[in-house]
Amino acid sequence: MAPLTRARATGGESVPSALHAAYYGQRASAGLIVTEGTWVSRQAMGFVDVPGIHSEAQVAAWREVTRVVHLLGGRIVLQLWHCGAVSHPDHLVGELPAGPSAVNPDEMSFTRDGFKPTLTPRAMTARDIHRTIEEYTLASRNARRAGFDGVEVAAHGVFLLAQFLNPRLNQRDDAYGGDQVRRRRLPLEVIDAVAEPWDGRGVGVRLSPYLASGPHFRADEDTLADHDALVAALADHPVAYLHLRGRDAAWPDGAPDMEALARYRRLFAGPLIANNGFDRGSGNAAIESGVADAVSFGRYFVANPDLVTRFAFGRSPEPGDPGTYYGGGPAGYTDYPVSV
Ligand SMILES: Cc1cc2nc3c(=O)[nH]c(=O)nc-3n(C[C@H](O)[C@H](O)[C@H](O)COP(=O)(O)O)c2cc1C
Repeated sequence: MAPLTRARATGGESVPSALHAAYYGQRASAGLIVTEGTWVSRQAMGFVDVPGIHSEAQVAAWREVTRVVHLLGGRIVLQLWHCGAVSHPDHLVGELPAGPSAVNPDEMSFTRDGFKPTLTPRAMTARDIHRTIEEYTLASRNARRAGFDGVEVAAHGVFLLAQFLNPRLNQRDDAYGGDQVRRRRLPLEVIDAVAEPWDGRGVGVRLSPYLASGPHFRADEDTLADHDALVAALADHPVAYLHLRGRDAAWPDGAPDMEALARYRRLFAGPLIANNGFDRGSGNAAIESGVADAVSFGRYFVANPDLVTRFAFGRSPEPGDPGTYYGGGPAGYTDYPVSV
């Protein structure tokens, strides 16, 4: 099951509720669940009602989620998330967000009052970077204490680690910017740091090289070259698997671009999870052709808690309702039926 932000941590303290345990428990047959992106610290926040893993109350609540998933035979890893510059003062008690450089990412942030445009962030100091790595480490330790089977580093999308990789948003001239090697230094240091509590087991890494968003995130040859080099560099770091979001295709009827994913198979020798636009047929084809070791499903798991059973019996999955993806209560979250 691919990571899915559902914004149901509604109590104001970013704490998962009993609903989260029910939702993930219903989907335990996925085999491996990657949770929704989860804040590593208060500073990481950038979207309302998303859970965190930095307070004791959050750890206790996640422990109930992992207990239920394990009782039902599943495995679950926590996705560690930091929005960096793609946040808003509304999430940060009025403070400006911090990013690699003082460049507005020109994205939108979802606040209590709806979507608001991002602002020009504060450039992170060396001390900010050091503290951020510490926050990631603490979050990873908390995930282990909460009973997770591992963590996945979200180095994808428009978020903090992807901002450091991006030459338009990262205009630093210190050890963390200036050329390709220095732009990927923070993502790699975070991977090393969050692996520390896991006894050499390694951590998951999520990348989305084909993502295009706003004026700064382009799936051009330079971006692909940066990702090629980053993926090749992962061999020297404690990486349990690489979780790749491939090129967007029409959903649910389009076909994933296998060649776009095969590029990474040639660069990465470890376990590779392919994602984005797969169904039963294309998922099996990706495994059989050797493009990936596993396939993750996002939108289908929203509406089909028993997706594995449906696939096994050749039943069609439901597309679900995007209107209830984010926020609210059980409706569109824990009330999707299993097929009989
Ligand atoms: C409602 C929703 C929330 C998502 N939240 C996250 C997230 O928290 N972290 C992440 O890495 N990807 C997130 N994604 C992307 C999905 O993990 C996945 O890449 C995307 O849905 C494509 O896969 P699919 O075709 O199987 O749905 C989200 C997607 C959707 C639809």
